Amino acid sequence: MSKNLLKISGIFLSAMLVLSLGACGSSSQNNTEDTRQESQTPAPAAEAGNDVDSSTETGTAAEAGGGNILIAYFSVMETDGVDTVASASRVAVDGEVLGNNQYIAQIIQQETGGDLFAIETVQEYPTTHDPLLEFAYNERAENARPELAAHIENLDSYDVIFLGYPNWNSDLPMPLYTFLEEYDFSGKTIIPFTTHGGSGFSRTIQTISELQPNATVISDGLAISRNSVSDAESDVIDWVNGLNLTEE
Ligand SMILES: Cc1cc2nc3c(=O)[nH]c(=O)nc-3n(C[C@H](O)[C@H](O)[C@H](O)COP(=O)(O)O)c2cc1C
Repeated sequence: MSKNLLKISGIFLSAMLVLSLGACGSSSQNNTEDTRQESQTPAPAAEAGNDVDSSTETGTAAEAGGGNILIAYFSVMETDGVDTVASASRVAVDGEVLGNNQYIAQIIQQETGGDLFAIETVQEYPTTHDPLLEFAYNERAENARPELAAHIENLDSYDVIFLGYPNWNSDLPMPLYTFLEEYDFSGKTIIPFTTHGGSGFSRTIQTISELQPNATVISDGLAISRNSVSDAESDVIDWVNGLNLTEE
């Protein structure tokens, strides 16, 4: 099924209204992250793996045409913190430890049958909390565009791009700016999702719209508190199915 047009019903009307971004509990600012520090076990930031994985577990939306769906995500799994379940930038699932957005992306992939794409950078991010905070803060202050380590080869074959990222400093992580400036998503639909420590999306959906003015960016993406990530599977599945991704 190659050139089918995907139609997303229900939510598109709001695509331009990114002005009103209160969705999903955004609050104004949360730059003061908690500073959990226990053990420090260094690990590569790009743990996520970046194969464009096209496994085909089906769900309601998967039957609607996963072949045209890409799930791109950025996620930095932290290796310190109080535990692997609550309030940490990682989640333990079936013995596997994942970054929060990596985990959500995998659920979306299983539900849609789409392809997974990890947005990874050439430089590795610190994987302990305070160094990561400082690094990201400086990167944002410099308006950096971190070089990406992998690229989407077959963008033309996707009509729908789920785009997942953590809220960093009430903004997109800077690699998302690189990503959104590298590609032209004109005519495609971007469906944002985020995990966060209390700020929801902040202004990030509007920023995505500004960077991709010719894409349809749905305004009511999915925002999940990092405290709820480990229990979020059914919410994610319900949300995906509620998008009513259908082919024509
Ligand atoms: C550098 C940095 C900055 C953050 N800034 C915010 C913020 O401004 N607001 C917020 O709600 N959460 C913030 N967080 C929390 C992350 O959004 C949250 O831990 C997220 O679930 C991490 O996702 P990941 O494991 O996929 O990287 C920040 C985390 C980091 C590491």
